[in-house]
Amino acid sequence: MKTRAAVLHTLDKIAPFADSRPLAIEEVELDAPGPGEVLVKMTAAGLCHSDLSVITGVRPRPVPMALGHEASASVLQVGAGVHDLKPGDHVVLVFVPSCGHCLPCMEGRPALCEPGAEANGKGELLSGERRLHVGPQAIHHHMGISAFAEHAVVSRRSCVKIEQDIDPVEAALFGCAVLTGVGAVVNTAKLQPGQSAAVVGLGGVGMCSLLGAAAAGAKDIVAIDLHDSKLAKARELGATFTVNARDPDAIAKVKEATRGGVDVAFEMAGVVAAMELSYRITKRGGMTVTASLPHPQHQWPLQQVSLVAEERTVKGSYIGSCVPARDVPRYIGLYLAGRLPVNKLLGERLPLADINRGFDRLDAGESMRDLVVF
Ligand SMILES: NC(=O)c1ccc[n+]([C@@H]2O[C@H](COP(=O)([O-])OP(=O)(O)OC[C@H]3O[C@@H](n4cnc5c(N)ncnc54)[C@H](O)[C@@H]3O)[C@@H](O)[C@H]2O)c1
Ligand SMILES: [Zn+2]
Ligand SMILES: [Zn+2]
Repeated sequence: MKTRAAVLHTLDKIAPFADSRPLAIEEVELDAPGPGEVLVKMTAAGLCHSDLSVITGVRPRPVPMALGHEASASVLQVGAGVHDLKPGDHVVLVFVPSCGHCLPCMEGRPALCEPGAEANGKGELLSGERRLHVGPQAIHHHMGISAFAEHAVVSRRSCVKIEQDIDPVEAALFGCAVLTGVGAVVNTAKLQPGQSAAVVGLGGVGMCSLLGAAAAGAKDIVAIDLHDSKLAKARELGATFTVNARDPDAIAKVKEATRGGVDVAFEMAGVVAAMELSYRITKRGGMTVTASLPHPQHQWPLQQVSLVAEERTVKGSYIGSCVPARDVPRYIGLYLAGRLPVNKLLGERLPLADINRGFDRLDAGESMRDLVVF
């Protein structure tokens, strides 16, 4: 079938993207779903910094690639062997397909699925196929999803069926920002009620960590960003103390406000300076969790002795160390109960044609989550 998708062809386009138009909205050919695959009609797709990082070359990926990885959709057709989804079902799409058989999957860590990671790196579906073409040229899939498109073929293992009564547009956020941000708090850090938390980098992901920390019962919640507008929003969402990362006394101020530093700091900004700040605002014995995805060549110099003598922990968190089929319904349940108000992060609802302008807004720190609504 024919559909329309936002395709990245080259990595040389610089901001403002509304003018340079790195994403071309094109008619593409989409093959029928193969065994274990599903044809979906996209409902909504969020603009995440990880898409922006592919556009800017911070996350090197093969091109041409159809971008987008945070989405909700409805099922149109199932391929052979898919018996637990049917046309009309609503799904949240998850950006690491989990095979269910590899060692990380068997250890209960599907976010680290090895065939899933390999397929994502190559821009293929879990089956090893690419189902998108323009003429003879195959288009790479972004993280098994390619959500900035009216339709997509995805692995069944990229889908979590939505059973709850949530607005299907808002459900898109749960595929990346919520799964990553909340999961970093509850799965990776296992934050305990009464502990203190700090979030450095208040985009869609960081704000979800802030909401997750509040839901998990954190006492002090420190919020840090370069934009005062983000700090104001963070206070609205439950931050108890905010400071601008540009403040030369930021570390001292956080330590004073939290009597020696926070139990857990979450680095959600994507730059080494934010990682350093996150490490330095934790207390002795504290933990720093990072979920951001900086350029592969960027290195963070760690003072090794502080790790040892102060018994600190540094942990990475990929898709919030999630088990998608367990966590997506849990977080949707918390949202529907009013305890995880992630809809407050929503900005503009864009037509696909305006997607480049949406990335300008994200790049400038003007949005947390804009959605392309189909
Ligand atoms: N681990 C995962 O599975 C996963 C999933 C989604 C996104 N990510 C990554 O998480 C990061 C955040 O994504 P997002 O969509 O929320 O991005 P975003 O652009 O919306 O937010 C980043 C925020 O960090 C702030 N920031 C930048 N430099 C800073 C500094 N030095 N100190 C403090 N704040 C600073 C920005 O002002 C912005 O508000 C990105 O690196 C993205 O690629 C990782
Ligand atoms: Zn994302
Ligand atoms: Zn696996």
